[in-house]
Amino acid sequence: MSDDPSDLLARGWDGAAEGYDRYFVPRFAPWVATAASALHARTLPPGPILVPCCGTFPELPAIAATHPDREIVGIDLSPGMLARARRRVAAHPRARLVRGDAVDLASRWPGEAAAVVSVFGLQQLPDPAAAIAGWASALRPGGVLSVVSWPDETETDGPFALLSAVRAEAQPDGADGSARHLRLAERAASAGALVERDEPVSHPIDHPDAESFWTAMVGGGPLHKLVLSHGEAFMAELREQFLSRAPSGPWRHRPTAHWIVARAT
Ligand SMILES: C[S@@+](CC[C@H](N)C(=O)[O-])C[C@H]1O[C@@H](n2cnc3c(N)ncnc32)[C@H](O)[C@@H]1O
Repeated sequence: MSDDPSDLLARGWDGAAEGYDRYFVPRFAPWVATAASALHARTLPPGPILVPCCGTFPELPAIAATHPDREIVGIDLSPGMLARARRRVAAHPRARLVRGDAVDLASRWPGEAAAVVSVFGLQQLPDPAAAIAGWASALRPGGVLSVVSWPDETETDGPFALLSAVRAEAQPDGADGSARHLRLAERAASAGALVERDEPVSHPIDHPDAESFWTAMVGGGPLHKLVLSHGEAFMAELREQFLSRAPSGPWRHRPTAHWIVARAT
């Protein structure tokens, strides 16, 4: 078994795919709709619509609804996520999946894509700002980039904030491999794209209770990777810290994501 970070990341998502699709996909649906809305009523140049970090591919139905004749390509590293994505692809003859690194779009589709749409994948890449410049370079002139990602801080109160706090205490070096200090608009512009939107997007999310949130994060979310890398004892301690400081009963929060829309010139 390899220690390669991208291999660990893929294995983490493999085991989380079913739980992610069940728990998080419906809760994240408003952000998927936000990202896809950038393609509504747009005449795109020729070429495929690329969806890097597609996971189980919840972006597909909304994109296919507005561009039914377009090739739509979901790209992801995790075979488990792609296996679930296949269920959505089966309903769309023009859609297909590629197992690969989302960082490499521009070498595979240099200046050839009609659009790049991505939700909640960019912040997981080793260098998100470089990745977004690469995604912009994959576009044909007139092509559209629409990317929703989580910034460093998504909320000051709520389960995401509490989870960040207990993780920071347990892992003071913060070596989670995720990205920080996103200067996305600047980098997209430096790759020749005209930035149309660079803004926060908040939506409410409801959890039955803190325990359900925790279970979903471990079984179907990014914490699954932490189980593989740090083991059960570490996770049990983290869980105890989290639950001891969480409120009881239903938990609603309103995290803020970041949305960038840009057009290639
Ligand atoms: C939180 S999920 C988001 C999935 C989907 N876009 C959604 O909105 O539900 C993040 C996905 O990014 C994928 N991912 C992370 N790094 C990647 C990389 N370098 N190349 C391709 N996929 C990657 C993971 O495998 C995972 O499926």
